[in-house]
Amino acid sequence: MWQRHKDIWSKEKTCDRLPKFLIIGPQKTGTTALHSFLSLHPAISSSFPSPISYEEVQFFSGPNYQRGIDWYMDFFPIPSNVSTDFLFEKSANYFDSEVAPPRATALLPRAKIIAVLINPADRAYSWYQHQRAHQDVVALNYSFHEVVSARRSSPPALQALQRRILGPGAYASHLDRWLHHYQPSQLLIVDGVLLRSNPVQVMNGVQKFLGVTPHYNYTQALMFDETKGFWCQRLDGARSRCLGKSKGRKYPDMSAETRALLSEHYREQNLELLRLFNRLGQAPPPWLREELHGAS
Ligand code: A3P
Repeated sequence: MWQRHKDIWSKEKTCDRLPKFLIIGPQKTGTTALHSFLSLHPAISSSFPSPISYEEVQFFSGPNYQRGIDWYMDFFPIPSNVSTDFLFEKSANYFDSEVAPPRATALLPRAKIIAVLINPADRAYSWYQHQRAHQDVVALNYSFHEVVSARRSSPPALQALQRRILGPGAYASHLDRWLHHYQPSQLLIVDGVLLRSNPVQVMNGVQKFLGVTPHYNYTQALMFDETKGFWCQRLDGARSRCLGKSKGRKYPDMSAETRALLSEHYREQNLELLRLFNRLGQAPPPWLREELHGAS
């Protein structure tokens, strides 16, 4: 910081209430589960829930940015120990935002960045179901197949929904933008499928990536809830606390025809993603290898 800025910096003001890491999304990949599991860790604290945007702060991606850094910092608790406490926030729309990476790196150049990925076709389908559950009229009026196969001659509202459904799934392009502003060593790509099936393994990897201590034993903290069909927080005895009804919805499988259409749509991006994993020296998730079966 410039000396002049130091001179006029208020004595009470610190940068302690800023996150050490961000979960950037995208939506519908398991980001809420990751957020809730991380919040169980004794050395990790999330931002306070925002009443205006489904609990997420959504600072770097939209109009909230104009509210300023004090507004942002007020979302974070005052850490009891700045060097060992890990503050974080999860805003799933940072992932595909053009402005979030440059803004985030300007304020948080040393932050670690976590993205969660599942097959982009499944992500798109989950997001469509989410829109229906929120009574989005276009999603209610058109089938998933109609949305993903919309053309230039289709009604503008249908095309707009298609863009919103498919856009975030261009994973390689979005991650490239983040990697323009952050070092590869600052980025962790979590396999959302593994997070769902074996969260303990994922949480061990996340703790290692963050370098957080003490090591928290997620084997004890989590349990599989047969009724919910998902991993949940273990409470006393055999009781559990799961995420709400809007996480882990029940809906019919995607048709093979629609899946084939989406495989084709995302093929180039998925190939780029495979190259990106190779470039980062990280193992690609099994779903990506299966999706591109036979591709180099
Ligand atoms: P579905 O409701 O389509 O199954 P996000 O929190 O990023 O919006 O992601 C929601 C998705 O998280 C859910 O999508 C669900 O599949 C997935 N998920 C992964 N682990 C979960 C868990 N332990 N509990 C509930 N949902 C979980």
